Amino acid sequence: MIIRRQFCLFSFIFVFLLQLGVKCQRLDEFRKVEDLVKKWSPVIWLSPEEKYFPLNVDDFLKYVYVSDENGETVMPHLNGKLPMYITERFNLMTHESVESLLNDSTSFLHGNSNLNKVSVYAVVRHCSTSPKSENENRVQRNFENNFYFHVTYWIFYPFNLGKDVCVLGRVPTLQVFNTCLGKVKTIGNHVGDWEHMSLSFVGKPIPDKLYIAAHTSGAYYIYNEKYRIFQLDGTIKKVGPRPKFPEIIRTQGEHPIVFSANGSHGMWATPGIQEYMKVPKVTDITGYGTPWFTWNNLRIFHLGYENLPYWFNFGGRWGNPKKKCLLFKKLGICEYSDGPTGILRKRQHFSCINNI
Ligand SMILES: *[C@@H]1O[C@H](CO)[C@@H](O)[C@H](O)[C@H]1NC(C)=O
Ligand SMILES: *[C@@H]1O[C@H](CO)[C@@H](O)[C@H](O)[C@H]1NC(C)=O
Repeated sequence: MIIRRQFCLFSFIFVFLLQLGVKCQRLDEFRKVEDLVKKWSPVIWLSPEEKYFPLNVDDFLKYVYVSDENGETVMPHLNGKLPMYITERFNLMTHESVESLLNDSTSFLHGNSNLNKVSVYAVVRHCSTSPKSENENRVQRNFENNFYFHVTYWIFYPFNLGKDVCVLGRVPTLQVFNTCLGKVKTIGNHVGDWEHMSLSFVGKPIPDKLYIAAHTSGAYYIYNEKYRIFQLDGTIKKVGPRPKFPEIIRTQGEHPIVFSANGSHGMWATPGIQEYMKVPKVTDITGYGTPWFTWNNLRIFHLGYENLPYWFNFGGRWGNPKKKCLLFKKLGICEYSDGPTGILRKRQHFSCINNI
């Protein structure tokens, strides 16, 4: 009896130490990953005349409540909770009207111009390093040092300023010789604006690729170690109308230099005028306004290994529902469009080889 109990105790301690060992090893690994996430996080240049700055999500959530598609209140105050169902019927609505918040330049809708106080949410997906079958051993060897992960840098802006388009009657039209024969209207304002950039590491302490997102589009860039720049990946076929993406993303130290467009916050590789739609003609303007050294502000999350903030999994939309639409509401051409969906519901731009 006594022997058995000692044995039991011994094996218990053994298993405990083993688990502890695995945990310590993982912590060590995560620390190395976090160092890379910081080392390669972007410098983001906000536009010189930007009026809508980013904000911490926790601050934004103080000013909104949850409503359903009929405008009925589902949760009048959040108090650290949000509904988790995946449904776009739920909206985070501002307590005050958007018009009055926009009118007040000190309201939360204008974000926080003190960028040192605003978090960038870096979401890390670790890829498995163990091969599924014999012939994947080669992959295994390459990834031995475990730098096999993807990170997406997420930024939250409380407001996205829409674009001026030319409207004839209720139809968006072309401008003739840069003059609008109808009326100029702002389309696509919305509360809540998630913007992002991603990096993929496939076994080396330098990234392999970068993905930059501008509105509903985006582009892949490949890292050129020799010249320390990211180059547009020309091998990817263009599908449908796509904006013209700059060829190169430069770096400052290791940090990719990117530009956040004035008002709309689409991310681009260069300062200047970025055309992302021809008809109606819509452009983004980027420039050297305020630099944001995001590595000082990172909140890093390891997906699947830790508890995430309660708002991560919110399955609804991050803003007021659309209103003041042209033509049909369904087309979504509205002065105010719907808020975006949350971080975890967005498409992944990189996938893990072993997990396919
Ligand atoms: C930037 O947007 C603001 C409105 O938020 C506007 O007043 C300003 O003219 C824009 N600047 C540029 C360079 O487009
Ligand atoms: C905007 O502000 C001005 C003066 O500051 C005020 O007269 C006007 O009523 C406000 N508009 C809204 C929609 O709050």
